[in-house]
Amino acid sequence: MGHIVHKFEIFNPLLTDAEAHGMVQLCEDFGPHGMYSEEALNEGIGEGLPQRFDAAMNFINTGGRKGQKEDLMVAAGRTNYFRETYAYGENIFAKGIEPFLNHQGFVEASKQLFDRPIIEPAIVFANLMLPGQELAVHTDVPEFRGANRKIMPQWLLVVMQHSGLFEEWRMPIATAVSWYHDCEGGEFAHYPEGANGAAETVPAQFNTAILTDTDTVFHGVDRVAQLSHEPPPFKPGMKLHPLGKGQWQLRDGEDVIETYQWQEMRFSISWKAYCFADEADRLRWREAKDDLSLDFILDTLKAELLKRDKPVADDLAAKDFAALLVAEFIHFPEPAAA
Ligand SMILES: [Fe+2]
Repeated sequence: MGHIVHKFEIFNPLLTDAEAHGMVQLCEDFGPHGMYSEEALNEGIGEGLPQRFDAAMNFINTGGRKGQKEDLMVAAGRTNYFRETYAYGENIFAKGIEPFLNHQGFVEASKQLFDRPIIEPAIVFANLMLPGQELAVHTDVPEFRGANRKIMPQWLLVVMQHSGLFEEWRMPIATAVSWYHDCEGGEFAHYPEGANGAAETVPAQFNTAILTDTDTVFHGVDRVAQLSHEPPPFKPGMKLHPLGKGQWQLRDGEDVIETYQWQEMRFSISWKAYCFADEADRLRWREAKDDLSLDFILDTLKAELLKRDKPVADDLAAKDFAALLVAEFIHFPEPAAA
């Protein structure tokens, strides 16, 4: 196997001090942050399967990056973090996010990442994590011309990416993750030398960021230090409400579950941008020319399995086919303590 090192760039500092403090204010001003829950399940190939069962199964089977196996419900709660979208294309949902959306440093680093000159920022979102929470090792949901998360199961898109069979249609996306206070624990762990290489950790520190290809490079978030709180019984639909002065409340409807100080939470803002080779490339995507179809994708994957001497039976249930694809094409890093 060849030795690959994926490029990444660290920003330290990312913004001016005042701008960085402004991001914390922006988060508070935004108001309650909801729990990130999985989008509706698909019919057909993805029917009855969680969108990211690839990463979830790996987390539960391995106990995460450090091999800490535990009760299924506790494990699930650890990874139910909070997310809100601050900008989506031209649409601004958090006032004041504009300079971050168009951050020149991110744009320049993105050009280098894929050696592509046209960068189009696509989305800015915030993640909030509580003490005891962590994010399972995964690669992000990629996008291909004609195949994105609006129309196809997320795990299938991840399979496509790792199969390497659809490079021609891939939309390279640069992702930056940034932090605005020093967090105890909650390091960003990534595998720039691939799943078989060593993990590198980046501390979540005030006014810093990393930019990399998170669709290719496995990454996750180590557990946020659990100083005085037990991991709460997280339930879908819970929200984090800012009370001001750095206090946040976890609520289930009207019920207050727990109160947190900003310093013990983990706050990150992510940025994603499409990277185009030229205007024709961008146009091909915008005008949906040369799009993939689901039939072509499944036929291509089946043909590859046949080539590997693993033919797919005609009567194989969709669920089993999905599990087979994930097992065959996605190779997660081994947990350090296993
Ligand atoms: Fe990610």
